[in-house]
Amino acid sequence: MTILVTGATGTVGKHVTDLLMKRGVSVRALSRNSETAKTKLPEGVEITEGDLMKPQTLHHAFQGVEAMFLITSSDQPYADLNTDPEIVFLAEKAGVKRVVVLVGYEEGPVEEKLRASGMQWTLVKPTEFMANALEDWSEIIREEGAVREYCGDALSARVHEGDIAAVIVQTLLEDGHHGQCYPLSGPEALTRKEAVSTIAAAIGKDISFIELSEEEARQQWRDQGFDEENIEFFVEMGKNTPEAGYIVLPTMEQVLGRPARRFAEWVAEHRNEFLCSVGCKRQ
Ligand SMILES: NC(=O)c1ccc[n+]([C@@H]2O[C@H](COP(=O)([O-])OP(=O)(O)OC[C@H]3O[C@@H](n4cnc5c(N)ncnc54)[C@H](OP(=O)(O)O)[C@@H]3O)[C@@H](O)[C@H]2O)c1
Repeated sequence: MTILVTGATGTVGKHVTDLLMKRGVSVRALSRNSETAKTKLPEGVEITEGDLMKPQTLHHAFQGVEAMFLITSSDQPYADLNTDPEIVFLAEKAGVKRVVVLVGYEEGPVEEKLRASGMQWTLVKPTEFMANALEDWSEIIREEGAVREYCGDALSARVHEGDIAAVIVQTLLEDGHHGQCYPLSGPEALTRKEAVSTIAAAIGKDISFIELSEEEARQQWRDQGFDEENIEFFVEMGKNTPEAGYIVLPTMEQVLGRPARRFAEWVAEHRNEFLCSVGCKRQ
């Protein structure tokens, strides 16, 4: 059995690839750049080059594939990925039987086409990834021992990306998940301040939490290269966090038969990434 993993070099896709390999499944990983992908993926993964925005590049990717893990958008600020829905037709035509989609912030045309297709499908809808803490906070914690954040009391039931991947792998390999939508959360809701305190406890160092006003936060995101649409979304998530962002859900346990991992466990796995290495200003 061959499974096509899109986004295999990304945060969730890396875990999906590793877990499938551990289960002895043969993985074909899609990447826009096979040379870079080689440096990120484990031995034994077949890498195929293709672009989800350009369906004509995907014919080889689907050949001989039984099931596919599909991402529908990218988190990178400069690469707004709106996966072309035509790929659903191409996948079905090529004989793909099952598709598991990691839904971005909301469903779009790909999910719509998939629901109308003859393939088995499952939608996985995670809340905020724990890994966002690395992207948002690790550098400034290493360099300044501080975090500059908006709405320190905003809650989030952050979810471990390895847990998201475990659900994806289970639904790719096991029958009985066709037509299901699985919203996923972590096992607790923490404020941004509590999340930063968890990191401080793990590294054994103080981290100052500097709370930004809305204008200061907007400017920080602009300086980081985010567009106004993203910035509006971030402000809204802080000021009026939707319930879906902080409600603790039982789905993980229902699908995996074990509880979701806590933020403190995730931090313990990534402790070194928040610590200064040799030569760092803040030894
Ligand atoms: N971060 C969150 O809190 C959060 C919450 C809910 C949902 N999500 C969703 O989760 C999904 C996966 O995110 P992630 O963090 O795992 O990914 P990521 O780390 O941002 O990596 C992006 C991945 O997408 C691939 N990619 C980007 N553009 C592509 C294109 N045009 N064609 C083919 N592949 C492309 C990249 O592959 P190559 O560079 O190798 O081509 C890379 O593997 C996204 O759809 C995101 O919207 C994120």
